[in-house]
Amino acid sequence: MAARGEFSSRTAFVLAASGSAIGLGNIWGFPIKVASNGGGAFVFTYIVLTFILAYPILMAELVIGRHAKADTVKSMLSISGPKTRGLGALTGYWGMMTASLILSFYAIVAGWMMSHAVGSLSSLLGLPDSWFVAESMGRSIAFCALFFTLTIGIVSSGVASGIEKWSTRLMPVLILLIISLIIYIATLPGASQGWAIYLQPDFSKVTEPDLVLDALSQAFFSLSLGVGTMMVYGSYISKSENLPKLGATVAAMDIGIAVLAGMLVIPAMYVAQHNGVVIYDESGNLIESGRLIFNVLPSLFETMGAAGNTVSFLFFVLMSIAALTSSISMLEVPVAYANDSLGVSRKKSAWLVGLAIFAFSLLIIFNMGWLFDGVVNFATQFSEPFIGILFCFFVGWVWKRDKLLGELKEGKPDMEETFFWKVWPAYVRFVCPVIVLALLVRSFDLVELLNRFFN
Ligand code: PHE
Repeated sequence: MAARGEFSSRTAFVLAASGSAIGLGNIWGFPIKVASNGGGAFVFTYIVLTFILAYPILMAELVIGRHAKADTVKSMLSISGPKTRGLGALTGYWGMMTASLILSFYAIVAGWMMSHAVGSLSSLLGLPDSWFVAESMGRSIAFCALFFTLTIGIVSSGVASGIEKWSTRLMPVLILLIISLIIYIATLPGASQGWAIYLQPDFSKVTEPDLVLDALSQAFFSLSLGVGTMMVYGSYISKSENLPKLGATVAAMDIGIAVLAGMLVIPAMYVAQHNGVVIYDESGNLIESGRLIFNVLPSLFETMGAAGNTVSFLFFVLMSIAALTSSISMLEVPVAYANDSLGVSRKKSAWLVGLAIFAFSLLIIFNMGWLFDGVVNFATQFSEPFIGILFCFFVGWVWKRDKLLGELKEGKPDMEETFFWKVWPAYVRFVCPVIVLALLVRSFDLVELLNRFFN
């Protein structure tokens, strides 16, 4: 079998892993959750949860992957004990399936982003754009296929010459685009109202369970946790790197871009409102998130006159780039498995697995009404946190502590002296699983179910 890939430098890993983390979750999901959950209060809760819950789990994934230097199944087996091998393998497979499920719906949405980008470009050129911006099955299928082709193309080229190359090219463009758009939108009338909502937290909402749950699933999804993506990316990090520092950099980049995206999308919503576009329904709730992105923002761009098409084009290119650097990291999870465990060549596995997931996306497109939300909820609200708990269980309870320390010491010989080592092991052992489980139970109203059962 060919030698395993590896990221060529620390920066390459940071950009690729941040590329995975920074996606539609940051630029679409985050600002909308902020706007419907008490503005700055949500931002605050999300940042706290990212540091106290998501970062420790990110570290668990990175350290398992870097230790085993293999796909998720082999990695999990490598740290399992004789009694936990079955559960270890199952966790690896479940992660792989979740990554594939996420890709199946993500690619549909990413396709719409691309079709809007192409639509704005064609208006810019004075050509008709209606097919690209109006909802239709044909458009969904065509652009989903295009998005899969790009994703598969990059993954099939390998870790350094595909994933790394494109992440390092696209991430700087993404940051530049986001900053330019923030500056432009901030100059428009109405923007200041959005800034005020964003920056003035309504702290009375911090204790609302829905807000905390929303912030938790956002933190998990946003850091690409609980699917094995970070484990696989971790497996391509050189042994000489200091993992806790790399992980912290990725978490900080992810938060940073989410916060920036809020500075773009929330003021833009209020500029739209100022221009007469409806953003809150009669009962005062923010309108549904799909409509916000695909109707409200385009209506806003239309009210901007000549600049509108350019801003719209840049915005949807930004979205498409963010989605692409994430989707490659999703596809990489099953592809690494086919490559490492089954010995299938990278090219072949990328195409075979990619096409299989595309087939599932088609199924979702044909059954949009019920299947889309079902897949999203199962993958993001249930599987991701649950698998996160399993990762904690393995790192905290199953893996021998001296082996774990040995792995971390590879890149930082004085690891034992660090604050990280003093806190983190006990943390993934007790705190993370308990809190995530408690929040999960809450979200499924198990308590209420049990109450009903016993009464
Ligand atoms: N983190 C990505 C986003 O915020 C989504 C993602 C989830 C990517 C799981 C990889 C794995 O959009």
